[in-house]
Amino acid sequence: MSEDPSDTGAHLRRPIPTKSHGRLSIGASLKPREVMTDRPMLKHSWTAKIITLFPDAFPGVLGESLTGKALEQGLWQLKPVDLRIFGKGKHRDVDDTPAGGGAGMVIRADVLGEAIETDPIPGPLVYLSPRGKRFDQAMAKTWARGPGVTLICGRFEGIDQRVIDHYGIQEVSLGDFVMTGGEIAAQAMLDATIRLQPNVLGNAESTEEESFSNGLLEHPQYTRPATWKGHTVPEVLTSGHHGKIAEWRAAQSQQLTQERRPDLWQEYLEKQGPKTAE
Ligand SMILES: C[S@@+](CC[C@H](N)C(=O)[O-])C[C@H]1O[C@@H](n2cnc3c(N)ncnc32)[C@H](O)[C@@H]1O
Repeated sequence: MSEDPSDTGAHLRRPIPTKSHGRLSIGASLKPREVMTDRPMLKHSWTAKIITLFPDAFPGVLGESLTGKALEQGLWQLKPVDLRIFGKGKHRDVDDTPAGGGAGMVIRADVLGEAIETDPIPGPLVYLSPRGKRFDQAMAKTWARGPGVTLICGRFEGIDQRVIDHYGIQEVSLGDFVMTGGEIAAQAMLDATIRLQPNVLGNAESTEEESFSNGLLEHPQYTRPATWKGHTVPEVLTSGHHGKIAEWRAAQSQQLTQERRPDLWQEYLEKQGPKTAE
């Protein structure tokens, strides 16, 4: 598999359904009973396979609100795989000391390899890692367009490098900080991806105007009451003049991006062409 996050795992791909969702169809499976979730798998739904030592952490917050409703409706499905099942020996050990010495433990190649090869799904194979390419909206869109994603949640000092090399796993980071495990990163990335699936959000427009969708940060939002602790809603927003409102929002969006994210602003100017970039 390639390092390119836009690679959707063609080697594993089955045809992407044109329409689907909601109908239960349970396929035959050779996988051990324990690695199956109690939820019957939906044949054509966007699927997240999560390899983790903490399968009970899922769906976690993804079971709430819009992503939770979409999960119930079968618009996407979750396949948590308990890494412990593949552990070695009486204690089902999944980790061992680092070759060459040093602090901490490393997840074993053979254990993780088995979990990856058991019941594979189409789509990118990703290891959540602070060393990885930073996750962003573009990656969420790429994943959302594909059939699903397999996310490997590390623990301890991480996973044996040979697994990454052997399967051509992409490393993806939530940000420049170190957490104790990949589960929170997995949920954050899945949330961003699932909300881009058709029919998950009530109002399709909301993904078109929000931050990053057009290369800019979103304009400020206001609602009732019209006056709060002496602060009023900007007059233009209550004017009812749609053209002026759109103009004001675009200007705010540009100003905020320029102030807060000079990197995004520069990219935006370059995309607008030479006149604007001057
Ligand atoms: C303590 S971390 C390991 C850090 C690793 N020794 C290093 O220095 O890069 C344990 C696990 O948490 C997850 N993790 C920690 N920070 C992360 C981040 N910023 N993005 C994604 N996953 C992260 C990874 O799966 C990692 O294997």
